[in-house]
Amino acid sequence: MDVYEAIASRQTIRDFEAREIPMALLCKLIDAGLKAPSNDHLRRWEFVIIQDRARRRALIQSIRAPQDTQGATNLVNEWGLVEQSQREMYIDAIPKQHAMLLEAGALVIPYFYTSGPLLQPETLSALNSFASIWCCIENILVAAASEGIYGVTRIPFEEERNSLRRHLHIPQGYEVPCYLALGYPKGGAKRMKQHEIRLEDKIHLNGW
Ligand SMILES: Cc1cc2nc3c(=O)[nH]c(=O)nc-3n(C[C@H](O)[C@H](O)[C@H](O)COP(=O)(O)O)c2cc1C
Repeated sequence: MDVYEAIASRQTIRDFEAREIPMALLCKLIDAGLKAPSNDHLRRWEFVIIQDRARRRALIQSIRAPQDTQGATNLVNEWGLVEQSQREMYIDAIPKQHAMLLEAGALVIPYFYTSGPLLQPETLSALNSFASIWCCIENILVAAASEGIYGVTRIPFEEERNSLRRHLHIPQGYEVPCYLALGYPKGGAKRMKQHEIRLEDKIHLNGW
Protein backbone atom coordinates (compact mmCIF):
# COMPACT_ATOMS: atom_id res chain seq x y z
CA MET A 1 0.00 0.00 0.00
CA ASP A 2 1.45 3.40 -0.84
CA VAL A 3 1.41 6.19 1.71
CA TYR A 4 -1.60 7.99 0.20
CA GLU A 5 -3.61 4.78 0.25
CA ALA A 6 -2.64 4.14 3.87
CA ILE A 7 -3.63 7.69 4.84
CA ALA A 8 -6.96 7.36 3.02
CA SER A 9 -7.60 3.97 4.55
CA ARG A 10 -6.90 5.04 8.14
CA GLN A 11 -10.06 5.56 10.08
CA THR A 12 -11.15 5.16 13.63
CA ILE A 13 -12.39 1.68 14.47
CA ARG A 14 -13.91 0.84 17.85
CA ASP A 15 -15.10 -2.74 17.22
CA PHE A 16 -12.28 -5.25 17.31
CA GLU A 17 -11.80 -8.95 16.73
CA ALA A 18 -10.42 -10.79 19.76
CA ARG A 19 -7.10 -11.30 17.95
CA GLU A 20 -3.76 -10.16 19.30
CA ILE A 21 -1.40 -8.24 17.06
CA PRO A 22 1.84 -10.22 16.72
CA MET A 23 4.49 -8.53 18.85
CA ALA A 24 6.92 -8.14 15.92
CA LEU A 25 4.25 -6.29 13.95
CA LEU A 26 3.32 -4.11 16.92
CA CYS A 27 7.00 -3.22 17.32
CA LYS A 28 7.16 -2.34 13.62
CA LEU A 29 4.20 0.06 14.05
CA ILE A 30 5.78 1.69 17.09
CA ASP A 31 9.03 1.99 15.16
CA ALA A 32 7.08 3.92 12.49
CA GLY A 33 5.87 6.17 15.32
CA LEU A 34 9.44 6.73 16.43
CA LYS A 35 10.22 8.18 12.98
CA ALA A 36 7.87 11.14 13.55
CA PRO A 37 9.18 14.68 13.98
CA SER A 38 10.03 15.64 17.56
CA ASN A 39 10.25 19.11 19.11
CA ASP A 40 13.52 18.54 20.97
CA HIS A 41 15.16 16.09 18.56
CA LEU A 42 15.24 13.40 21.26
CA ARG A 43 11.93 11.55 20.77
CA ARG A 44 11.54 11.02 24.49
CA TRP A 45 8.59 8.70 24.01
CA GLU A 46 7.96 5.35 25.68
CA PHE A 47 5.24 2.78 25.06
CA VAL A 48 3.66 0.43 27.56
CA ILE A 49 1.73 -2.43 25.95
CA ILE A 50 -0.97 -3.92 28.12
CA GLN A 51 -2.20 -7.30 26.95
CA ASP A 52 -3.45 -8.67 30.26
CA ARG A 53 -7.24 -8.16 30.37
CA ALA A 54 -7.41 -7.84 34.17
CA ARG A 55 -4.81 -5.07 34.06
CA ARG A 56 -6.74 -3.38 31.28
CA ARG A 57 -9.96 -3.58 33.30
CA ALA A 58 -8.28 -1.99 36.29
CA LEU A 59 -6.85 0.73 34.09
CA ILE A 60 -10.12 1.72 32.43
CA GLN A 61 -12.50 1.42 35.35
CA SER A 62 -12.28 5.14 36.03
CA ILE A 63 -13.74 5.95 32.59
CA ARG A 64 -17.15 7.49 33.16
CA ALA A 65 -19.16 7.25 29.93
CA PRO A 66 -22.72 6.07 29.34
CA GLN A 67 -22.63 2.52 28.00
CA ASP A 68 -25.93 2.64 26.10
CA THR A 69 -27.26 4.56 23.11
CA GLN A 70 -29.88 6.45 25.12
CA GLY A 71 -27.28 7.71 27.57
CA ALA A 72 -25.03 8.74 24.68
CA THR A 73 -27.91 10.53 22.91
CA ASN A 74 -28.76 12.44 26.09
CA LEU A 75 -25.14 13.54 26.40
CA VAL A 76 -24.93 14.64 22.77
CA ASN A 77 -28.17 16.64 23.21
CA GLU A 78 -26.78 18.18 26.39
CA TRP A 79 -23.70 19.26 24.42
CA GLY A 80 -26.02 20.87 21.86
CA LEU A 81 -24.52 19.06 18.88
CA VAL A 82 -26.52 19.46 15.68
CA GLU A 83 -24.26 18.35 12.82
CA GLN A 84 -25.60 14.93 11.82
CA SER A 85 -22.35 13.02 11.12
CA GLN A 86 -20.88 14.37 14.37
CA ARG A 87 -23.93 13.32 16.39
CA GLU A 88 -23.82 9.85 14.82
CA MET A 89 -20.12 9.51 15.60
CA TYR A 90 -20.57 10.40 19.28
CA ILE A 91 -23.69 8.28 19.71
CA ASP A 92 -21.83 5.30 18.29
CA ALA A 93 -18.56 6.05 20.09
CA ILE A 94 -19.61 6.95 23.63
CA PRO A 95 -21.04 3.54 24.61
CA LYS A 96 -17.93 1.81 23.22
CA GLN A 97 -15.32 3.62 25.35
CA HIS A 98 -14.74 0.70 27.71
CA ALA A 99 -15.17 -2.19 25.27
CA MET A 100 -12.84 -0.75 22.62
CA LEU A 101 -9.96 -0.49 25.09
CA LEU A 102 -10.67 -3.87 26.62
CA GLU A 103 -11.13 -5.86 23.41
CA ALA A 104 -8.53 -4.30 21.08
CA GLY A 105 -5.72 -6.55 19.90
CA ALA A 106 -3.29 -4.28 21.69
CA LEU A 107 -3.67 -1.51 24.23
CA VAL A 108 -0.73 0.85 23.99
CA ILE A 109 -0.11 3.60 26.51
CA PRO A 110 2.30 6.13 25.02
CA TYR A 111 4.33 8.33 27.36
CA PHE A 112 6.08 11.57 26.42
CA TYR A 113 8.51 13.75 28.29
CA THR A 114 7.56 17.34 28.96
CA SER A 115 10.06 19.75 30.45
CA GLY A 116 7.42 22.01 32.01
CA PRO A 117 3.86 21.74 33.25
CA LEU A 118 1.67 20.81 30.32
CA LEU A 119 -1.57 22.26 31.58
CA GLN A 120 -1.97 26.04 31.67
CA PRO A 121 0.85 26.67 29.18
CA GLU A 122 1.91 30.28 28.75
CA THR A 123 3.15 29.99 25.20
CA LEU A 124 2.21 27.87 22.22
CA SER A 125 5.66 26.31 22.17
CA ALA A 126 5.12 25.04 25.73
CA LEU A 127 2.86 22.49 24.05
CA ASN A 128 5.53 21.24 21.64
CA SER A 129 6.08 17.93 23.42
CA PHE A 130 2.33 17.24 23.33
CA ALA A 131 2.19 18.16 19.63
CA SER A 132 5.14 15.87 18.89
CA ILE A 133 3.67 12.78 20.50
CA TRP A 134 0.58 13.22 18.35
CA CYS A 135 2.78 13.20 15.24
CA CYS A 136 4.11 9.89 16.55
CA ILE A 137 0.63 8.52 17.17
CA GLU A 138 -0.55 9.46 13.68
CA ASN A 139 2.48 7.69 12.16
CA ILE A 140 1.49 4.58 14.11
CA LEU A 141 -2.12 4.81 12.92
CA VAL A 142 -1.14 5.25 9.29
CA ALA A 143 1.42 2.44 9.42
CA ALA A 144 -1.20 0.26 11.12
CA ALA A 145 -3.75 0.98 8.40
CA SER A 146 -1.23 -0.20 5.81
CA GLU A 147 -1.18 -3.53 7.69
CA GLY A 148 -4.99 -3.86 7.97
CA ILE A 149 -4.87 -2.78 11.62
CA TYR A 150 -6.97 0.12 12.84
CA GLY A 151 -7.27 2.00 16.06
CA VAL A 152 -8.77 4.61 18.27
CA THR A 153 -7.35 7.12 20.71
CA ARG A 154 -8.96 8.34 23.90
CA ILE A 155 -7.71 11.33 25.85
CA PRO A 156 -7.97 10.54 29.58
CA PHE A 157 -10.14 12.85 31.65
CA GLU A 158 -8.63 14.10 34.92
CA GLU A 159 -9.90 11.18 36.99
CA GLU A 160 -8.49 8.77 34.40
CA ARG A 161 -5.12 10.54 34.51
CA ASN A 162 -5.03 9.96 38.25
CA SER A 163 -5.97 6.32 37.74
CA LEU A 164 -3.25 5.91 35.08
CA ARG A 165 -0.78 7.36 37.58
CA ARG A 166 -1.94 4.91 40.23
CA HIS A 167 -1.76 1.85 37.98
CA LEU A 168 1.26 2.57 35.82
CA HIS A 169 4.71 3.67 36.70
CA ILE A 170 4.90 7.11 35.09
CA PRO A 171 8.29 8.63 35.83
CA GLN A 172 8.61 12.28 36.86
CA GLY A 173 8.31 14.56 33.84
CA TYR A 174 6.36 12.10 31.72
CA GLU A 175 2.70 12.36 30.67
CA VAL A 176 0.27 10.03 28.94
CA PRO A 177 -1.44 11.78 26.02
CA CYS A 178 -4.03 9.11 25.31
CA TYR A 179 -4.93 5.46 25.40
CA LEU A 180 -4.19 3.95 21.99
CA ALA A 181 -6.20 0.84 21.11
CA LEU A 182 -5.13 -1.04 17.99
CA GLY A 183 -6.61 -4.14 16.45
CA TYR A 184 -8.19 -6.01 13.61
CA PRO A 185 -11.72 -4.74 12.83
CA LYS A 186 -14.54 -7.10 13.72
CA GLY A 187 -16.72 -8.21 10.78
CA GLY A 188 -19.34 -5.47 10.43
CA ALA A 189 -17.28 -3.03 12.52
CA LYS A 190 -18.89 0.39 12.41
CA ARG A 191 -17.18 2.69 9.92
CA MET A 192 -18.45 6.18 10.56
CA LYS A 193 -19.67 8.43 7.79
CA GLN A 194 -17.20 11.29 7.60
CA HIS A 195 -18.08 14.94 7.76
CA GLU A 196 -17.80 16.04 4.14
CA ILE A 197 -14.92 18.28 3.29
CA ARG A 198 -14.11 19.89 -0.07
CA LEU A 199 -10.44 20.46 -0.68
CA GLU A 200 -11.13 23.67 -2.60
CA ASP A 201 -12.87 25.12 0.48
CA LYS A 202 -9.83 24.45 2.64
CA ILE A 203 -7.04 25.95 0.57
CA HIS A 204 -6.63 29.73 0.45
CA LEU A 205 -4.12 31.34 -1.84
CA ASN A 206 -2.23 34.37 -0.53
CA GLY A 207 -4.40 34.72 2.58
CA TRP A 208 -7.73 33.69 4.09
C1 LIG B 1 -7.13 14.16 19.85
C2 LIG B 1 -8.17 13.12 19.58
C3 LIG B 1 -8.96 12.67 20.62
C4 LIG B 1 -9.92 11.67 20.41
N1 LIG B 1 -10.64 11.20 21.46
C5 LIG B 1 -11.46 10.16 21.28
C6 LIG B 1 -12.11 9.55 22.40
O1 LIG B 1 -11.95 9.97 23.55
N2 LIG B 1 -12.88 8.48 22.16
C7 LIG B 1 -13.09 7.97 20.91
O2 LIG B 1 -13.80 6.97 20.77
N3 LIG B 1 -12.51 8.54 19.82
C8 LIG B 1 -11.69 9.60 19.98
N4 LIG B 1 -11.05 10.15 18.89
C9 LIG B 1 -11.33 9.67 17.54
C10 LIG B 1 -12.22 10.68 16.77
O3 LIG B 1 -13.55 10.54 17.19
C11 LIG B 1 -12.10 10.41 15.26
O4 LIG B 1 -10.77 10.59 14.88
C12 LIG B 1 -12.99 11.37 14.46
O5 LIG B 1 -14.35 11.08 14.67
C13 LIG B 1 -12.70 11.30 12.95
O6 LIG B 1 -12.93 10.01 12.45
P1 LIG B 1 -11.79 9.13 11.77
O7 LIG B 1 -10.66 8.97 12.75
O8 LIG B 1 -12.47 7.81 11.45
O9 LIG B 1 -11.33 9.84 10.54
C14 LIG B 1 -10.11 11.15 19.09
C15 LIG B 1 -9.31 11.62 18.05
C16 LIG B 1 -8.34 12.58 18.29
C17 LIG B 1 -7.48 13.03 17.16
